[in-house]
Amino acid sequence: MKNYYVMTLFPEMIINGLETSITGRAKKNGIINFEAVNIRDFTNDKHGHVDDYPYGGGAGMVMQPQPVYDCYKYIESKIGKKTRVIYLTPQGKVFNQQMAKEMAQEDNLVFLCGHYEGIDERVLEMIVTDYVSIGDYVLTGGELPSMVMIDSISRMVKGVLSNDVSAEEESFSTNLLEYPQYTRPEVFMEKKVPEVLLSGHHANIEKWRKKLSVERTVQRRPDLFLNDGKKDELIEYMLEYYEGDASRILNILKVCLLADYIAKRENIDERTRYILETAAIVRGVGSGKKLDRILLKFNFDEELISRVKLIVEGEHNQSGLDNQILFESDYLVKMQEEDMSDEEIINICSSKFKTGTGKWICEQILHT
Ligand code: ADE
Repeated sequence: MKNYYVMTLFPEMIINGLETSITGRAKKNGIINFEAVNIRDFTNDKHGHVDDYPYGGGAGMVMQPQPVYDCYKYIESKIGKKTRVIYLTPQGKVFNQQMAKEMAQEDNLVFLCGHYEGIDERVLEMIVTDYVSIGDYVLTGGELPSMVMIDSISRMVKGVLSNDVSAEEESFSTNLLEYPQYTRPEVFMEKKVPEVLLSGHHANIEKWRKKLSVERTVQRRPDLFLNDGKKDELIEYMLEYYEGDASRILNILKVCLLADYIAKRENIDERTRYILETAAIVRGVGSGKKLDRILLKFNFDEELISRVKLIVEGEHNQSGLDNQILFESDYLVKMQEEDMSDEEIINICSSKFKTGTGKWICEQILHT
């Protein structure tokens, strides 16, 4: 059983929100429990106040440390040990699926909801372990953010969703957005369900869904591509592949860094950058089956695999910015490794380099 405690001035808001739907059902089934603890119940102020004017002046009121501290102590004694306390604030680390997954491992979590102009800094220093934001916008309090977090953390807890696979397969677990879904009727206002879904051919359906997931991610959230963790895994794989070969290993790392730097400065789109970076990592493998095996092992999409292969196997004879940047990165490293003369560098730079960044780096590395 996972226990989620919310320290708040508006407990009914939390309970009303979480009692419904899937989190409510999980609570009934004894898989998770949540409790909203009213900070006001712990104030020593005889009028029940929990806030006061800020020292130093300024607009708004600040929540006082005493009720917050005592409220936390009550929860701590109930749990029987010190626990992670998450303070919801726009100043925190932005919440994401990875954090949800990680927090779902904890048996107890305490959420602290601020209001007014915030909470006295001293009590935050004493009890808070994590500062978390749910996005770059400002809300009136931490209640909605804590509910958002509890919702997404709970669904990563085994048994909360009726089908365990579904949480894993959804968007962000794979860093691909979900494919489109359809249900009856087969024709709605003259719009038909895609033919392949009616075919009963499971392999084709899988293929179609993967293709649409990729297309959607490219169009709607290209930023997700660059952060899927595959790049680091692929680099590690290649370094192990070349174990003992210092010059190759350092060459890969140098070319990757340059390609990444040039791509960033040239403002190329995320998808092209992703292709370029993948090609930069695997380019030493050359062509053929070995390259195929590595790319398939990492479950890259077909379109990416064929473009990476064209670049790597074409030995820079392809058109396209991805190919050009890889060529320039490769050459810049070569200039240094082979200790080329200024004359050679100037010659190659003026005849073969096209990006402003590549040319600029050339100028910087000239000896004179
Ligand atoms: N409190 C106010 N705004 C917030 C946000 N964006 N995330 C978390 N807590 C908040």
